[in-house]
Amino acid sequence: MCGIVGYIGKQKAAPILLAGLAKLEYRGYDSAGIAVMENGKIEVQKDKGRVCNLCEKKEIENLQGSIGIAHTRWATHGEPSKINSHPHTDSNEEFAVVHNGIIENYVELRKELEKKGYSFKSDTDTEVIPNLIHYFYNKEKTSQEDVNDENNNELKFVKAVKQATDKLIGSFAIEVLSKENPDIMVVVRKDSPLVIGKGYNENYIASDIPAILSYTKDFYLLENLEFAMLTRDNIRFFDKDLKEFNKKSDTITWNAMAADKNGYEDYMLKEIYEQPTAIRETIGTRVNEGICKFDELDFSKEYLQSLTQIYIVACGTAMHAGLAVKSTIERLSKIHTEVDIASEFRYRDPLVDEKTLCIFITQSGETADTIAALKLCKEKGAKTLAVTNVIGSSITREADYSIYTHAGPEIAVASTKAYTSQITLLVLLAMYFAQILENIEKHELENIIKEMLVLPNKIEDILKSTEQIQEIAKQMYKEKDVFYLGRGIDYTTATEASLKVKEISYIHSESYAAGELKHGTIALIEKGINVIGIMTDPNLVKKTVSNIEEIITRGAVTTVVINEKIAQTLDTRIFTNVIRVPETETWLSPIVTIVPLQLLAYYISKEKGLDVDKPRNLAKSVTVE
Ligand code: G6P
Repeated sequence: MCGIVGYIGKQKAAPILLAGLAKLEYRGYDSAGIAVMENGKIEVQKDKGRVCNLCEKKEIENLQGSIGIAHTRWATHGEPSKINSHPHTDSNEEFAVVHNGIIENYVELRKELEKKGYSFKSDTDTEVIPNLIHYFYNKEKTSQEDVNDENNNELKFVKAVKQATDKLIGSFAIEVLSKENPDIMVVVRKDSPLVIGKGYNENYIASDIPAILSYTKDFYLLENLEFAMLTRDNIRFFDKDLKEFNKKSDTITWNAMAADKNGYEDYMLKEIYEQPTAIRETIGTRVNEGICKFDELDFSKEYLQSLTQIYIVACGTAMHAGLAVKSTIERLSKIHTEVDIASEFRYRDPLVDEKTLCIFITQSGETADTIAALKLCKEKGAKTLAVTNVIGSSITREADYSIYTHAGPEIAVASTKAYTSQITLLVLLAMYFAQILENIEKHELENIIKEMLVLPNKIEDILKSTEQIQEIAKQMYKEKDVFYLGRGIDYTTATEASLKVKEISYIHSESYAAGELKHGTIALIEKGINVIGIMTDPNLVKKTVSNIEEIITRGAVTTVVINEKIAQTLDTRIFTNVIRVPETETWLSPIVTIVPLQLLAYYISKEKGLDVDKPRNLAKSVTVE
């Protein structure tokens, strides 16, 4: 939650900061602000509302300074308002701070600081940080000699930030400006992301790489409690004890276009259309001559045989990807597999031990509950495997193993290409387990791989024409409630499709296992209600059709997603709308069937005139509990 950007160089900082914030709005967008070093003074401009509100401000246009910090907020402590927006300064206005994360002990710290004479303007947890820094900075002032020694002053600044962060309980990524040190910026992170982009005589900071990817490809991925002191042409790194060290930079291969809309009206639409590429890239070098390769994993047959269970833990859409692969992993590995919601799992003392393999799925690699669940499993002795899209993200630093989807940056809050790439990678992982365990015949493996390789073409076919889906969206957009039904693997797709429509079109939606409907929920079915049925499993189709007939009898308007083969076995005239998708192996079907349903949610949201990429109350990266 919350996005932060920083710039220190020779150009005007404000436009660079605003452009970076605009790319980070997916992390929060209820208020925004910047602080720029202007003629030795810290000039703060902030307000409630989106980043674009700031762009229109004359005061910001007039800022000439070339060092600055910026923030886009997703409120946790204190309502969205100008006063609660970041940056925050200490009561003497000598330090300015932007912060992403949560300070859990801010109430106690605030009381301590008030006793020392500091006063507070906002309701935020963040405001204690600049005040703590001010306190320690001034406490450190020794002799006049020291104050005049520039290097010593700089170090005093880093030291004050370190002493302040020593006091903090919780998570933080912070950028700090100091009036007395106008050519320096200090940054540090703990459990919230922060990257530094290295330019020529200029340096950039951001919560994630895409925000500053158009300026540089060389990045430092800051680890927990590493401090960086930045000037225009230098970056010094200090560890948690303030011992200076050299850090290696990473070169990122994504291009900046990948993080732009590239001609599409919305990021979500672009990302839906990027799915064929994302899946191709994710399969990438993992399959070779009919076998699956995971060189970063060293699982032996003995280890896999020793496992009594696999736990898949995640949140939101990533958790739905887990549901979509549960039965595939069970069937191919013959290991009992459970899927759980990270925020529930972590507090219920789960039965996990060294005979459990714990898999964590997270697009961002930053979701607080997922990371906490991973730490818990490690403590209990289990091996942990992270499945993520973001190289160097927090979860990859905690997990025993990390494997990556190659979906490219996903910006829209509603996840699309990350979901289909996660399923792709996890099916490959299931096949890899089966290979090691010798549970699968060579020809069987070859057949699934063959089928996987043509999946991107099948999705391209669906994406070629969207008129029918747009038409259904027009029929549905005024609805208050909709239902999604399916059995087996199709039920998992129903669950994800239902979330998509809720997230971006604000229509109340429920997903149901088709057979469960009549145990209560059918009472809600009345004339005209929209029900969407998904039927791709030939073994279950007849059963689902019976359930759909039961609701047609009660007046429902039905839309079904079926494949060509299933269509041949049914009298499709009983349904109001029939969306046909290409046929594929049942295990892989969620990757195909979700695509028209992502589009349906998208077009419903467009019909309603909503902001598809930034739905109300949501944030893409949920770094708080
Ligand atoms: C938020 C997003 C969802 C996402 C979930 C998990 O709720 O809005 O789209 O699925 O977080 O995020 P992760 O980065 O862990 O996959």
